[in-house]
Amino acid sequence: MLTANSRATNAQYPDELQSILSIRAADESGAWLSNWDQISSSATPLWNLPDAAAALSVARVSLKDEGFRSPLGSFKALGAPIALVRLILRHWHAHSLNPSGLLRGQYAEMLSNLTVISATDGNHGKSLAAAARDIGCQCVIVLHANVSVEREQAIAFYGAKIIRIAGGYDESVEHAAKLAAQNGWHVVSDTSYEGYETIPRDVMQGYGVIAAEALKQLASSTPFQPVTHVFLQGGVGGLAAGVASYLWEHSGAQRPRFVVVEPQQADCLYQSAIVGYATKATGSVDSVMAGLACGETSPLAWKILERCVDYFMTIQDEDAVTAMRSLAAGSDRDVPLVVGESGAAGFAGVSVLMQNPSLAKQVGLGPDSHVLVINTEGATAPGVYRDLVGEVVESVLARQSEWQKSHEH
Ligand SMILES: Cc1ncc(COP(=O)(O)O)c(C=O)c1O
Repeated sequence: MLTANSRATNAQYPDELQSILSIRAADESGAWLSNWDQISSSATPLWNLPDAAAALSVARVSLKDEGFRSPLGSFKALGAPIALVRLILRHWHAHSLNPSGLLRGQYAEMLSNLTVISATDGNHGKSLAAAARDIGCQCVIVLHANVSVEREQAIAFYGAKIIRIAGGYDESVEHAAKLAAQNGWHVVSDTSYEGYETIPRDVMQGYGVIAAEALKQLASSTPFQPVTHVFLQGGVGGLAAGVASYLWEHSGAQRPRFVVVEPQQADCLYQSAIVGYATKATGSVDSVMAGLACGETSPLAWKILERCVDYFMTIQDEDAVTAMRSLAAGSDRDVPLVVGESGAAGFAGVSVLMQNPSLAKQVGLGPDSHVLVINTEGATAPGVYRDLVGEVVESVLARQSEWQKSHEH
């Protein structure tokens, strides 16, 4: 399913959106994050996939690989730590704390009574737990019924207290808010709701790092070929808003087209585009793309997305699995890649459109297009990855390193 968004504009990045997301704040976040040892000290790779481009009949496919961002396994490592750092700076503003020192545990003693809490599908909670551990505060994570035990254990590894509830993601968000109010804890959520915007804004600002790096990498790639389309997978809309706003502010009227991709069962952004305001999904909100299984659009993210996302589309679970397999397989000219369920959604979106000539034409995709996709996670649930791809992560990684050796000049 595909819908065009008539509210998208090609005007310059509007001043009123600067207070939500800006290149300045994203770059500041990037500088602080570079001091955290859970973040890779080099930029994540931007892979050129010529065989995938040929198969899809586009000029070029560039894939920004966030599987390399952090041992935490996903781009979410860029969000929670920044929100936590900014929360502490606001609350302890009289202490002139050094933001980089915070992530190195310099103020652990002072912060040991601070408790942060969040609901999660997995990746955000893991990043928050790791950031809280390194900063030296307490962390409580609320998980809904569909989060796998494998993902739960990965979060518990970082020392967070886990609370399991019976309902879905949206109930877990409500539960976290209730516990925070009862106990004087701070909610560090990646989604906004009425009266709660500052922290999700800070989370999204961290994601701008992906766009900043991609712009530098694209500018130095030869031959230079401007990106025409960016496919961004959507859960509550934070990733898409963080990346699209940066690229929009950078390129203004020359910005690429943005396409947001969601699972059909968790289509809250798609539905928001249809009704014209942040709304809920219509489906079961249960998808193999666990990170995208969100039932409600983040209203703050929507303020950005409604102004710049040209198309919203949904895909089936099988589309994501097919994309995971083909990216894992690699080819003569394409490196084999470990791409998780939610990570594959952007690439899957391009594939779905290119299989339908009239949809491809509608979004302006063709032989001259340069498509940028983001792999937002590696195998964050290795058991699920093995079952879906039919190969263990280690084996794909071994083929990846073989491929790289054989392509060294
Ligand atoms: C791997 C992965 N990709 C994409 C997303 C979507 O991000 P957002 O919910 O900010 O739209 C998530 C969210 O958890 C995720 O875990």
